[in-house]
Amino acid sequence: KILILDFGSQYTQLIARRVREMHVYCEILPCTTSEESIRNFAPKGIILSGGPASVETVGSPVAPQVVFDLGVPLLGICYGLQYLAKALGGRVGRAPQREYGRAPVKIEAASPLFEGFDVGESCDVWMSHGDRVEELPPGFRAIAASPSSPLAAVAHVEKPIFGVQFHPEVHHSARGKEILQNFLRISGCTGQWNMASFSKTLVEQIRAQVGSGKVICALSGGVDSAVTALLIHKAIGDQLHCIFVDHGLLRKGEREQVREVFQDRFHVPLEVIDARARFLGKLDGVTDPERKRKIIGHEFIEVFDEAAKRVGDAKFLAQGTVYPDVIESISFKGPSATIKSHHNVGGLPEKMNLALVEPLRELFKDEVRELGRELGMPEHIVNRQPFPGPGLAIRCLGGLTDERLETLREADAIVREEVAAAGLHDRIWQAFAVLLPVRSVGVMGDERTYDETCAIRAVDSVDAMTADWSRLPHELLAKMSTRICNEVKGINRVVYDISSKPPATIEWE
Ligand code: XMP
Repeated sequence: KILILDFGSQYTQLIARRVREMHVYCEILPCTTSEESIRNFAPKGIILSGGPASVETVGSPVAPQVVFDLGVPLLGICYGLQYLAKALGGRVGRAPQREYGRAPVKIEAASPLFEGFDVGESCDVWMSHGDRVEELPPGFRAIAASPSSPLAAVAHVEKPIFGVQFHPEVHHSARGKEILQNFLRISGCTGQWNMASFSKTLVEQIRAQVGSGKVICALSGGVDSAVTALLIHKAIGDQLHCIFVDHGLLRKGEREQVREVFQDRFHVPLEVIDARARFLGKLDGVTDPERKRKIIGHEFIEVFDEAAKRVGDAKFLAQGTVYPDVIESISFKGPSATIKSHHNVGGLPEKMNLALVEPLRELFKDEVRELGRELGMPEHIVNRQPFPGPGLAIRCLGGLTDERLETLREADAIVREEVAAAGLHDRIWQAFAVLLPVRSVGVMGDERTYDETCAIRAVDSVDAMTADWSRLPHELLAKMSTRICNEVKGINRVVYDISSKPPATIEWE
């Protein structure tokens, strides 16, 4: 396995993605990781990531000495290269011209890192740097050059230590994958890692961690918690107790679907708690988005905690934490304003004093999906679009009543049905309906109507950080609109949301 030591680059996750795509297991650890943890990780090769700092700045991030002591192959990328160069006795300085974007590099010398490339050959790579290596450390030579970095790639003449100024991990570096592949080969990684074998490893790890203890798991219907539950069930069978809270803010058919898949198909012990009245009671008259979120988050923890106490003697709490959450929590970041207080099962661990079981901690979202398929999970769960913890409450603007929620549920079902029928479900990040407390006049038959408005929201995104409104075909929008007005009581007008994020957000509250 490969260790990726993170110096804070926006591309660090991409390095991990690429390495895993080549069926080599890797993990990202922050450059502040202890020597002991790195020794225990026992990497066969180490990649030092890029980063925003300059190695010449006082207090810039450094790697622990063990990285050099282990004697395994090293590859420095951008800041990683500059760090290696400086640490090993070279010199780094400001480049006369900063290099951002595409640049040609010319291979200047044969090297195992460039196996499959010809000396003298040029290829396009992606650059993003202000500093550059000015003077090679002893024992190093240049193996590639770009117009403004004569030392665009360097290698030690004897030891397997390499550095590249460019970013082989990004898509725009045309042959970057070959370079990374070469490094994996140099490290002796043969590419045996796959989801079937990883699934077995995870099952063994879960067994070792929980022994004969009881594990409780909050199922939300989302893919992360679903795969977590199924995997744990595979490992320890009925020692797992799943709890599904119906807070009355679910989409149409969701509760039945969870029952059907987990109880009927996989025979996972499942307790469905009907807390609809309780949630709606607490939300009565509440219209402020943040208050809705807070109430739901708080109430969820209460309901779940009570249910868990009834189970008794549980020692563990299962959580569907995925790798981006882990990276997010360990990476450097400054203060940022609260836009929305997200509710997942966030507050549970603090409250419950149970040990956590988080088998998906090392997986990216698409790997979680792959694992789900490996476990036999049906496609409609594996490919489910994200659905927020506070559910329909933050899509039903204004006060929440049974009737309004039911109206929204029906409209939302139509939007999703039509997106699926048009074959667009997997291409769109999220598509859903929003109910606005805005009444307008309409006419149906010969009758005057005075009903609320439904907004259709559909966005394209890769990570929900930014999003663009989906260019849905007019015909599709027309069909949704007609069906919603005809079939759903309480709506007489449909609008399409054409705002991107930023400045809007995906959800309306
Ligand atoms: P926004 O509205 O902030 O949403 O652009 C970004 C993504 O996060 C989802 N979302 C949530 N997910 N709990 C969640 O688990 C929440 O409280 C929550 N709020 C928003 C939203 O659906 C979108 O995918």
